[in-house]
Amino acid sequence: MNYRHDYHAGNFADVLKHVVLARVLTYLKNKPSPFRVIDTHAGAGRYDLWGPKADKTGEWRDGIDRLMHKELPEPAAGLLAPYLDAVRAINGASELRFYPGSPLIARQLMRADDVLIANELNKEDFERLRSEFHRAKATIVLNLDAWHAVKSLLPPKERRGVVLIDPPFEERSEFSDLLAALAAARARFATGVYLVWYPLKDEPAADRFVAELTAEPGTKFLEVRLAVCKPFAGLGLTASAMLILNPPYVLREELQSIMPVLRERLAEGEGSGYQLRDSL
Ligand SMILES: C[S@@+](CC[C@H](N)C(=O)[O-])C[C@H]1O[C@@H](n2cnc3c(N)ncnc32)[C@H](O)[C@@H]1O
Repeated sequence: MNYRHDYHAGNFADVLKHVVLARVLTYLKNKPSPFRVIDTHAGAGRYDLWGPKADKTGEWRDGIDRLMHKELPEPAAGLLAPYLDAVRAINGASELRFYPGSPLIARQLMRADDVLIANELNKEDFERLRSEFHRAKATIVLNLDAWHAVKSLLPPKERRGVVLIDPPFEERSEFSDLLAALAAARARFATGVYLVWYPLKDEPAADRFVAELTAEPGTKFLEVRLAVCKPFAGLGLTASAMLILNPPYVLREELQSIMPVLRERLAEGEGSGYQLRDSL
């Protein structure tokens, strides 16, 4: 397990993932009953964009940095506000130095009685996460192997909630690990909102994953893909996706407003684009 998110925090893939997370949490808050967020691969929680690791790749400069300082058109600006406000919440008024990972963004957008479970296997990142949430209420930080833990954490007591699964994709088995984990999770908590992130390095493999995951008739899903340019040998990741099972009914329309703006702001050359697919 070599992956460290410090190198990639705030890049275009994080932006897509965290925008979707923020929209889903914003929707869940329309109802007063509490919900739970289970973040299976939570990372360290807070990333120093001026530190040597983020500086080495500079990926955040082609991600969050392109959204923070320039005016955005409506209605995208309003829809992106909860996410951008969560980023601003850990920075000074005009500076962008720190990037909040998924558990910090989630906690920022959750209410006092909504419960966050943030799980991270890497010991060092787990310790950072634990100290980040040292004083936080209704927040549990775990140091478990997500592929085993996800089953034992479901169903949530509240019977309402989101499971974010964001593996590092270092292993070839990650699509099959995801399928197995999601089958077990959905058997325990069929009505949960599942958010799954994956890279689009091997598009046929991603297509097979989506086809298998959504094969059962009646499966409600929405998939959003974002490419910042066409694939280039040696350029690293140029496209990624989020799949949402049991998406809020408003999410497709919201993403139809948001995605053209993200594509335009995050494009790195020819071949940028986005795609939305759903079960309707
Ligand atoms: C892509 S990063 C997570 C980023 C985070 N979700 C965010 O959006 O800010 C993936 C994380 O999964 C952790 N990880 C890898 N294998 C794991 C496993 N089997 N169980 C739990 N965490 C794991 C890695 O240490 C890494 O911090």
